[in-house]
Amino acid sequence: LTLKIRPMTGGDMAKITEILEATPEFTREEVAVALELIDIYLERGTGSGYHILTAALDYEPAGYVCYGPTPMTAGTWDIYWIAVDGTKQRRGIGRALLTAAEEKVKKASGRMVLIETSSKDSYEKTRAFYRDREYGVIARIPDFYSPGDDKLVLRKIFEG
Ligand SMILES: CC(C)(COP(=O)(O)OP(=O)(O)OC[C@H]1O[C@@H](n2cnc3c(N)ncnc32)[C@H](O)[C@@H]1OP(=O)(O)O)[C@@H](O)C(=O)NCCC(=O)NCCS
Repeated sequence: LTLKIRPMTGGDMAKITEILEATPEFTREEVAVALELIDIYLERGTGSGYHILTAALDYEPAGYVCYGPTPMTAGTWDIYWIAVDGTKQRRGIGRALLTAAEEKVKKASGRMVLIETSSKDSYEKTRAFYRDREYGVIARIPDFYSPGDDKLVLRKIFEG
């Protein structure tokens, strides 16, 4: 099995759409927004403010990460989306995607990466994933997504 992390191409769309639609954590609305960002990136490239990397497992898309510089900041970047095929999780693909995005951010003189996520129980493995990669919870907005569902802001700082 060979895993390759590379910029997303139009040819990845069908499989990535399938992966997003099969991800139980994501609502229909979230899938629609995720696909919209992909469309923007495929049309306009990184000039759009979105950067997308695909993880290809034996040449087949198995996940992706969408990130970009946070507008109106100097050196702050956001991870907007990350998803790995439900049948291929827990094999290090998410870690490889996140590490690749972090390396690109560092090369671009990024100082920190922020990630927004939900406090819901169903996101516990997602939070474990980020904890493991040294992201700390630095803010919480109670009841942000819906009553009882807080928004958590996670951050990782890169030493200059
Ligand atoms: C979060 C996600 C991208 C992780 O991808 P992945 O390929 O499964 O992650 P990895 O195999 O690289 O896991 C890395 C580490 O994360 C943690 N982790 C991942 N899945 C976990 C689980 N089910 N339970 C506990 N810890 C978990 C572990 O520390 C793991 O390291 P280990 O396997 O050596 O113990 C994937 O689970 C996913 O797509 N989830 C649904 C979508 C989502 O929540 N996206 C984020 C929105 S903010």
